[in-house]
Amino acid sequence: MDTIKSSKIANPGLAGAGQMRIAWAESRMPVLMAMRAEHEKAKSLKGMRVAGCLHVTKETAVLVRTLVAAGAEISWSGCNPLSTQDDVAAALAADGLSIYAWHGQSRDDFYWCIDKTLEFAPTLTLDDGADLIFRVHSSRTELAPAILGGTEETTTGVHRLRAMGDAGKLLYPIIAVNDAATKSDFDNVHGTGQSSIDGILRATSILLAGKTFVVAGYGHCGRGVAVRARGMGSRVVVCEVDPIGALRAAMDGFSVMPMGEAAAIGDVFITATGVKDIIRKEHFQRMKDGAVVCNTGHYDCEIRIPDLAALATKVSEIRANNEEYLMADGRRIYLLAKGRLVNLAAAEGHPSEVMDMSFANQFLSLVRLAREGTTMQKKVYTISAEQDRQIASLKLATMGMRIDELSPDQLRYRTDFTSGT
Ligand SMILES: NC(=O)c1ccc[n+]([C@@H]2O[C@H](COP(=O)([O-])OP(=O)(O)OC[C@H]3O[C@@H](n4cnc5c(N)ncnc54)[C@H](O)[C@@H]3O)[C@@H](O)[C@H]2O)c1
Repeated sequence: MDTIKSSKIANPGLAGAGQMRIAWAESRMPVLMAMRAEHEKAKSLKGMRVAGCLHVTKETAVLVRTLVAAGAEISWSGCNPLSTQDDVAAALAADGLSIYAWHGQSRDDFYWCIDKTLEFAPTLTLDDGADLIFRVHSSRTELAPAILGGTEETTTGVHRLRAMGDAGKLLYPIIAVNDAATKSDFDNVHGTGQSSIDGILRATSILLAGKTFVVAGYGHCGRGVAVRARGMGSRVVVCEVDPIGALRAAMDGFSVMPMGEAAAIGDVFITATGVKDIIRKEHFQRMKDGAVVCNTGHYDCEIRIPDLAALATKVSEIRANNEEYLMADGRRIYLLAKGRLVNLAAAEGHPSEVMDMSFANQFLSLVRLAREGTTMQKKVYTISAEQDRQIASLKLATMGMRIDELSPDQLRYRTDFTSGT
């Protein structure tokens, strides 16, 4: 492990490879790059110190460089022990930035890194999963008065922060980036859909055609995964607890059943719920020999790994991110990426094109907090429909697509309660 200046990363020698990876992402994130060009001149984040806790990937590096171009100082950690791309971390450290992140951290390492990013007393925080915000709210409350606000990237973090806001426990305003349409309808659906399949394939290299593929949770992420697994030729089964989600899955053409039944027929299982204990002992006991199990929800508690370990007589890592659990009865169950986000641990996370919109939302939200944070309430804010439309319009333009516009007459017609048949 190397400590350079104010960074701790795995290997500074990887910086060159990281620079190339970041350049590739920059070439595919035109919306964020346009914001970089604009705000580099305006220096909209001058004087801001941004502490970030978000997967250190090539796309995050594009966001980090955009924050710096806009005048911010940054200090960064990864938000998952297995998601850091060490070459990207090295490239950012070589830029002279404070990066505390490496692939394969212990729990203690993880919190040590967050604590290091708080040392420069941030004025803004940026989270994916709210671990950094919770750290400020639990053990570093003295930092809160100087923090103008924070942003949250993912569903799980937003759920928890809304609960904190409702309980009157938030110490500064939060913007729920996840809830922007240009985030959750694209990143969670298309990003998680594609990259989770990518992670499963890199960890297993199995053929998906003809397999029974079980998806737990038919929300944004689960729907994205289910649709793509079907596209690869799998028979997809959905497990849900919400009758509306289940009905949606059924009418989208998927089989719907409880996990207790799906466990016996699935070849591949993926959890995408944001809730713990989705796959448990009684499910492992019913699984077929060779079943592959993984998770793409935020935390590693969706699959009850201690249950699997208790049933196993031997555990061996048979290839990267793929552990074979040998059951007493001879069946083998394969757990990918230790139950952590399979798309980030076993692949590269979401493609740049979709992170372009998520991180444009992150960037504009931080600019708003820098400008208005002192007058905002200590609650969770949703991104405005106007910002959503602005980002969607920019994205469409960069994709070379134009759309129709409502005429003034059509606009009037839409709300004209005197017109009928
Ligand atoms: N892998 C990634 O890169 C990535 C990206 C975005 C979000 N996430 C995470 O994925 C998780 C899901 O996010 P989302 O945006 O799809 O949330 P969502 O709220 O849109 O969907 C979650 C779905 O899971 C269902 N569910 C809850 N408990 C269940 C249970 N016991 N069994 C079956 N279904 C259950 C809910 O009814 C809901 O339909 C969250 O933890 C989120 O933070 C991961």
